[in-house]
Amino acid sequence: MNEIIRDTQSSVTHTSLDPQDWNEFRALAHRMLDETIDDIANIRARPVWQPIPDGVRAAFKADVPREASDLADVYRDFSEHVAPYATGNVHPGFMGWVHGGGTAVGMLAEMLAAGLNANLGGRDHMPIEVERQIVDWMRHLFAFPESASGIFVTGTSMANLMAVLVARTSALGTLARQYGIGNDGALLAAYTSQAAHGCVSRAMDIAGLGTDALRKIDVDADHRIDVAALRAQIAIDREVGFKPFLVVASAGTVDIGAIDDLKAIAELCREEGIWFHVDGAFGALAILSPELAPLLGGIELADSIALDFHKWGQVPYDAGFLLVRDGERHRQAFAQPAAYLRREARGLAAGAVWPCDLGPDLSRGFRALKTWFTLKTFGTDRLGAVIARSCALAKYLETRVLAEPRLELLAPVNLNIVCFRYRAADEVNREIVADIQESGVAAPSSTTLDGRFAIRAAIVNHRTDESDIDALVAAVLEFGGRRSGGVIEVEAPPLAAQSY
Ligand SMILES: Cc1ncc(COP(=O)(O)O)c(C=O)c1O
Repeated sequence: MNEIIRDTQSSVTHTSLDPQDWNEFRALAHRMLDETIDDIANIRARPVWQPIPDGVRAAFKADVPREASDLADVYRDFSEHVAPYATGNVHPGFMGWVHGGGTAVGMLAEMLAAGLNANLGGRDHMPIEVERQIVDWMRHLFAFPESASGIFVTGTSMANLMAVLVARTSALGTLARQYGIGNDGALLAAYTSQAAHGCVSRAMDIAGLGTDALRKIDVDADHRIDVAALRAQIAIDREVGFKPFLVVASAGTVDIGAIDDLKAIAELCREEGIWFHVDGAFGALAILSPELAPLLGGIELADSIALDFHKWGQVPYDAGFLLVRDGERHRQAFAQPAAYLRREARGLAAGAVWPCDLGPDLSRGFRALKTWFTLKTFGTDRLGAVIARSCALAKYLETRVLAEPRLELLAPVNLNIVCFRYRAADEVNREIVADIQESGVAAPSSTTLDGRFAIRAAIVNHRTDESDIDALVAAVLEFGGRRSGGVIEVEAPPLAAQSY
């Protein structure tokens, strides 16, 4: 077979998009790489975020580029107009939402993946084995059986949606994929907590089950689902003829990082014959830290787990993941026969289960490579230490807030998220958040807790240290003082005396 050898001397045809001059291309490529590495290495010298000037925004309302441009000019456009106005989550002062910081290693892996230009929908090639390797590692970490399956997706919003679809097919049978959810589907009821991420509700909507079919159970003072109330609601629903089919527990709620009582929920789901899904968008990877892993007790009993490597895993965006205990049920929810996707005994079309059998995507990028590079290069112990460290920094911020009479802590600090406010009206706090973001010193986000506006610091970035926390506190006090004229409106008892 090997005698059939192709001529390896490439000649650039006029239709090829390859460079005419590879040496010139190589020199520019090296410059791009050097400058990107410099940017990451010197990230502290930059503002965390800066508003986009009108002129820069306007430059991106250009006509379709029919004519070719010089690569160096396109790169200059990127360097001047795009890179300086990115989200800022590479910066250690970024504490908004739950954004990972990425790593230089992940960046290189992303470049290598683009060089391969692999399509991981299916077929027999090593990139798929890399993805399967990570599925295997996740099985191992979460003590799932050999028969479990997993797949990379964009993010946890997609992974949660797919979990709802797998649970739906599991409850209704595969014929529902052909005939629709019908009357039985209209009776399905799912459960999550009031503190769950909004994508769970959206998943019910997209799955055709409707958001009303999701019962949002009350949470306790620590924002954990009230398991007794969950049990009672399931009983009420059964009584009136609904079919409880799914509980979505949170391992790290988006607002404050609360972890539901996963063991108790697992037990309840087992008794009731209900699919037990865990939204572990960021919290699930706490499994990598020996000191935090016990907080996730019970996650190993889940039917499925959604998580993001692009958050606490520090893998560059995007790298969401779904793990399903029963790989066959997973496949039954998505697999579809098609002549052009036929599996063969040998050749490139070999292999039984392809990733396209486990999700809605046929064309899929090589997200697994940057995750594989990250896990292998740093090792899970070191990544676990980064996760534990961000929780320690959250505790440090909590201490700073509790020690400062002008600040008020608004929620218990469970993991890496601190919700607090300047002692002033909601409107003042809203302005403080925008002031800080625009100053470029830090980038907190906000949320509403018990009807009150909260400044929310989610510490996820591996580069963040105490000095970044101090800078955030100083900025809140500075802008708070300016916005409220230094007047503290609410006198409250010392926070250390409060229940949390
Ligand atoms: C608990 C939780 N679930 C789901 C999501 C959505 O994840 P993604 O943005 O990766 O879709 C988030 C995002 O922060 C989250 O915190």
